[in-house]
Amino acid sequence: MISIDQINFFKQHGWVKIESGLSDLQINDLLGKTKKIVDTVKKQKYPFIRFYHDYFFSNNIAAVEAPLNQEVSKENIYYYLSKIKLGQSISKLTNWNKSCCSLIRLFCMENFKYSGHWHRDREEINQVIQASFYLKDEKGFKIRKKFLEIKKDNKYPNNLCLDVNNKLLPLKLNRDEYDIIDAKKGDIIFFEPALLHQGKYDSSRLQFHMRFHNSDSQEIINEKLYKYDFLDFDIFEHLKFDASLNERKKKLDLFYKKNNNISRIKNLINYFIPYRNLMSYLVQKTRYKVYNFDLYANTILQKKI
Ligand SMILES: [Fe+2]
Repeated sequence: MISIDQINFFKQHGWVKIESGLSDLQINDLLGKTKKIVDTVKKQKYPFIRFYHDYFFSNNIAAVEAPLNQEVSKENIYYYLSKIKLGQSISKLTNWNKSCCSLIRLFCMENFKYSGHWHRDREEINQVIQASFYLKDEKGFKIRKKFLEIKKDNKYPNNLCLDVNNKLLPLKLNRDEYDIIDAKKGDIIFFEPALLHQGKYDSSRLQFHMRFHNSDSQEIINEKLYKYDFLDFDIFEHLKFDASLNERKKKLDLFYKKNNNISRIKNLINYFIPYRNLMSYLVQKTRYKVYNFDLYANTILQKKI
């Protein structure tokens, strides 16, 4: 159950970490079931997956979309999601009557260091809220301080971030510009995705990443929603346990294939000897003079801060 202090913390900072309330037994049971999803995805070439960093010798799937579909999930994991009362917490954080979920993504990278790009998922605040439910300890998620983000003269406007997102190295912000959130297995983080944020961690990962909207919002008025009796939020139809392949294809156009072997070998070499990072660093520093970049991102030398 989310407390008043946690609600106030969220309003001030744009994020909050809470415990799921599940017992160790339940978390471990859920962990086992979720690992089975990843194994099934790898075995049967499930089409709705993402590769971020594809290394030779590894099947480093970054994420599985709609992971609770019966095609890969034989167990009803929505049962656990009903127990952690996400809908209730979101109503308290946002004052929405009811919420609905448009995205469920299972992050499942293998044991490589990872840094995503700093980005915003929305231009305006209070449109959506995102939740990360951790099944493994994960250190390093960063979110820019809310009071800096709502300042008019934003140092990191969206056009800059989008431009940098097409380059190899992520921006490096000053340490006093962001919060770092370390999560433990069983924690849930709610955050405002219109604040600049960066996924970053230094080992393997297993977390459900979800996006919620106000069910009364105009933005989703034409969406088909589905309601499970036992769940305190609605879901988009393509996320149903028994959504057909066609229903999912309409929403998820992700059929990412592995890179070719040459580029996967290069990725692996760069992971241990970051020659490509160094070249990009020089190019990016020349282009964006006043900004700094993370020279060691996505390599063995990557630092936490
Ligand atoms: Fe994001």
